[in-house]
Amino acid sequence: MKTSQPGPRAARSTAATQASAQPSPPSAAPPSDAVVRARAEALIARMTPEEKAGQITQYFDFLTAQDEAKRVSTEVAAGRAGSLLFVADPVEINRLQRIAVEQTRLGIPLLFGYDLIHGFRTILPVPLAMAASWDPDLVERAQAVAAAEARAVGLHWAFAPMVDIARDPRWGRMIEGAGEDPYLGAAMAAAQVRGFQGPYLGSPDRVIAGPKHFAGYGAALGGRDYDEVNLSDNELWNVYLPPFKAAVDAGAGNIMTAYMGLNGVPATGNHWLLTDVLRKAWGFAGFVVTDAGAAASLQTHGVARDLADAGVKALSAGVDMEMAPPFGEAAFKTLPGALAAGRITTPQLDDAVRRVLEAKIRLGLFEQPYVDVARASEVLADPAHRAVARQAAERSAVLLRNEGALLPLDPHALRRIAVLGPLADAARETVGPWVFQQDDSETVTVLAGIRARLGDAVRIDTTPGVSIPARQFSSIFEGPEHARAPRIAVDDDAEIERAVNYARGADVAIVVLGEAQIMIGENASRSSLDLPGRQQQLLDAVLATATPTVVLLMSARPLDLRGSAPQALMTIWYPGSQGGAAVAGLLFGDVAPGGKLPFNWPRNIGQLPLPYARLNSHQPSSAEQRYWNEPNTPLYAFGYGLSYSSFSYAKLHIDRQKITPAERMSVSVELTNTGRRVADEVAQLYIHQRYGASARPVRELKGFQRVTLAPGETRTLRFTLGPEHLRYWTASARAFVHDDSVFDVFVGGDSSASLSASFEVCKA
Ligand code: NOJ
Repeated sequence: MKTSQPGPRAARSTAATQASAQPSPPSAAPPSDAVVRARAEALIARMTPEEKAGQITQYFDFLTAQDEAKRVSTEVAAGRAGSLLFVADPVEINRLQRIAVEQTRLGIPLLFGYDLIHGFRTILPVPLAMAASWDPDLVERAQAVAAAEARAVGLHWAFAPMVDIARDPRWGRMIEGAGEDPYLGAAMAAAQVRGFQGPYLGSPDRVIAGPKHFAGYGAALGGRDYDEVNLSDNELWNVYLPPFKAAVDAGAGNIMTAYMGLNGVPATGNHWLLTDVLRKAWGFAGFVVTDAGAAASLQTHGVARDLADAGVKALSAGVDMEMAPPFGEAAFKTLPGALAAGRITTPQLDDAVRRVLEAKIRLGLFEQPYVDVARASEVLADPAHRAVARQAAERSAVLLRNEGALLPLDPHALRRIAVLGPLADAARETVGPWVFQQDDSETVTVLAGIRARLGDAVRIDTTPGVSIPARQFSSIFEGPEHARAPRIAVDDDAEIERAVNYARGADVAIVVLGEAQIMIGENASRSSLDLPGRQQQLLDAVLATATPTVVLLMSARPLDLRGSAPQALMTIWYPGSQGGAAVAGLLFGDVAPGGKLPFNWPRNIGQLPLPYARLNSHQPSSAEQRYWNEPNTPLYAFGYGLSYSSFSYAKLHIDRQKITPAERMSVSVELTNTGRRVADEVAQLYIHQRYGASARPVRELKGFQRVTLAPGETRTLRFTLGPEHLRYWTASARAFVHDDSVFDVFVGGDSSASLSASFEVCKA
């Protein structure tokens, strides 16, 4: 994979660059659907079956793999590639584009795609963290930054957002999504699509969004990545599909299929998913790409006889473009043969080609296939982008404990602090997985952030304390990225002792613990939620000193600290390239934490899965004591997060006691900042349907607002509930229904909110 470091950093004035961090206004009206279609059809009329099959084939381009790179150039020159992924160097992008435009018979430009998960050069907090901000506007601005940087180097398409619901934190890809809830997931999905794409597909400085992995991928058996998924229609329609539907409704131009089998049928060969649901029920008009090698692997799943059969099955299910296996043969190469044999039809092939060509036309690639290399380095150096990344990290952190109001720390009251832990000064870990173009020397680690914030006035003693043993796993991402990764290796015994001594002599110990970034992400599941290596031992030893201790967790799954109770505990996720600066601001009270958990945090791994939106069942009175040995409540509830201030909710009011299913109603509540500082609160609204055709969850999120209140300020917040919030899919009707029922409404600062009211829905 390419590890380009384009050009020197040229600073631009903040005023001039802030626009690129904002959703940009349309500079030109997009062409009409009819014009786009006619242009695509005119091209298709001139294409051979081989050119058509090439147009819907995407190849990996690893510049590190010379043979592969040569093969890619050959395929492009022969008109047998419509798209490439992983090239990220603007010079190389222009070189390949020139081959496509100037040397092929039809001169159709290439579409360049990339895993733009949480930033390109400016690294944002990981997506799960951004979901914890409960701030869709911020998330939209953040992904607009990623889009601007990617587009500046010549990329056109993000393989993002990942909108898979994750209810099992053993699954490492939980880091890429928005957590366990369909409503929050849908809000984050739509915000990210808007951020990537802007007001319309083809907006300047934006890219195509490709929500993935359609669908159900997060429910892998045992949390083991790629393993089979068995989901009832009820869970699919009510939990796993809504974020995809929201992304489609927000105008996503692309959808990526999933690797695994859904109820026995691989998602990539699943006609029901790709055609009946996506195309017919939802009217998706963009193009569908397979996950890498997922068409060919229909053979591995045991549903395709050979590669040709795999190509036919994927296309027939509803795939438009194949992301070919990184080092294997493309299944879509066989399509001309399948056409000749009558196994697919010309209209079928043309539909797929048309959708891909339409994307290229909408993006303006025929008019402007090349990228301005000089401008690229300017955009990548934009300080406004760093400001957005920092704000995203600040707003994502979730404060879980703060005994005795240890936080925020008063810098003037400190003489000496200890900054400990293997992740305190680990630049590569701080940005998390799924980044390839970051500049590690630019990343602000927690230690660097604290140093910069405190200056020389406070003495800082620091040691990693322990190492994190990280097994290298075999993946396509091995190579340059991991070669750059710093090895976190120290002599544990000596360093634990040193850490304890530092803690003993300090006014406060700040311990940064968690998981190495390689332990989370694709193909990185864990069968334990413990702190890896000897970090628990380090933590317990530091806590035994009785020095006030702040633990910062760098991870993207709930970890089990085995009952250890530091005075303060904050999850900072993998906070991105400005992470350390953001964390320092939070520790010393420049900003107050306001993030909330996007998942239920279990007490231990044995409780999994533990969604907050569970159904009532037999003997609800004992629902919290189903295990002999411990409660089955979470350690921290979905939606939970503390502040440096405090809030109270009062006067919950529903404007109508009875509505018909078609009507809307307004819910209001008074929120007061009862503390002594300006702070944010995320007000959350949950409903519960008491009875109906199906049992409904005890709580379901149906509204939220992140607001900033001054000390003593009271604000009236209004929420609307309408048909889209009250309907659900039921197996008894095989459709979405509205039941006549009584609904409870709960409003508060997390999913255990107690302030409630009720109303009735009645058809007559
Ligand atoms: C496989 C991953 O599942 C997918 O999310 C990613 O976009 C592709 N590889 C390309 O890297």
